[in-house]
Amino acid sequence: MTQKSAVKPFLEVLSGQRQKVPPIWMMRQAGRYLPEYRKVREKAGGFLDLCFTPELATEVTLQPIRRFNFDAAIIFSDILVIPYALGRAVSFEVGEGPRLDPLDTPEKVAALAAKADFAKLEPVYEALRRVRRELDSGIALIGFCGAPFTVATYMVAGQGTPDQAPARMMAYSHPDAFAKIIDALVENSVEYLLGQLQGGADALQIFDTWAGVLPPREFARWSIEPTRRIVEGVRAKVPGAKIIGFPRGAGALLPAYVEATGVDAVSIDWAAEPSLIRERVQSKVAVQGNLDPLVLIAGGAALDRAIDDVLANFASGRLIFNLGHGILPETPIAHVEQMVKRVRNFRA
Ligand code: CP3
Repeated sequence: MTQKSAVKPFLEVLSGQRQKVPPIWMMRQAGRYLPEYRKVREKAGGFLDLCFTPELATEVTLQPIRRFNFDAAIIFSDILVIPYALGRAVSFEVGEGPRLDPLDTPEKVAALAAKADFAKLEPVYEALRRVRRELDSGIALIGFCGAPFTVATYMVAGQGTPDQAPARMMAYSHPDAFAKIIDALVENSVEYLLGQLQGGADALQIFDTWAGVLPPREFARWSIEPTRRIVEGVRAKVPGAKIIGFPRGAGALLPAYVEATGVDAVSIDWAAEPSLIRERVQSKVAVQGNLDPLVLIAGGAALDRAIDDVLANFASGRLIFNLGHGILPETPIAHVEQMVKRVRNFRA
């Protein structure tokens, strides 16, 4: 099965080569919608134990590949391993999402470690090496981190919030303290991403899930600028490193994001306006997306129509087929199969 120098369609698109059949994977493809994931998750104990046990992290990374033969695997971990390695308390309560000790005053920020304890992240690198050995050579392996703004929203609030008000407020009221968190995240994320490339990642994705809550001036400062520094920092050591940005909800700010950050592709959410994306984004970089995860739950004719819309909108250019955000736990597996089949039968 494994051939040495097989072409990876996913990487071809990132390198500028449109594929007749767009490569496909799904954000959050390893997760609770899979019964085999839930089984391993139960056995692992805590969520972070799952992330930091290479044997188990390797297994759950490969589960969606075995089932759906996606064109890319994403290493199983979480964006909050960086705050954890910075010495913050991080836990995941079942059904409640992440909990951290809130970093919500300038005094607390002053005591934040500048450098992460990278020994804590060694198991992620080991999992990458193991996945790389087991993965078919035509399938790409994606490493990732959270963008500094999105990671900071969880660090400041100590949990997820509907509108990231605590982080936005700190950015207005105590910009120097907020900048200190962002700077620490930029520097440590560069090192973490370089470690993932060394472990065998073929490409990297930077998840800025909450970028869309920022007004344009703040978006430029807290989403674009830190992401630009990460891209530059990684490429200073690994020129040509392939990087995908996901500034969810950026909308009309996407062209500026692409221009300034230097990413090779952007992942777009389902609300993105197709002609703006084609003319001012896809003309410059590859586009990844952007099926609404809800229609993947709905299935049937609505799903077929939505898939065809994504293909009609973007498959004439460089496209990696994906969802507009992560797959939801209640998604029927048969609907994922329906999607993969329909996309793979497409001929541009
Ligand atoms: O994509 C993959 O399959 C790889 C693994 C991955 C996880 N989280 C595993 C996970 C990736 C790439 C992430 C990214 C992540 N984590 C983001 C950015 C992408 C996005 O979806 O917006 C964010 C904001 C987080 C933070 C986080 N981790 C939250 C808010 C939660 C709880 C809510 C949820 O989605 O479940 C997590 C937990 C988490 N991370 C789970 C998984 C599979 C569920 C934990 C469990 O199994 O109980």
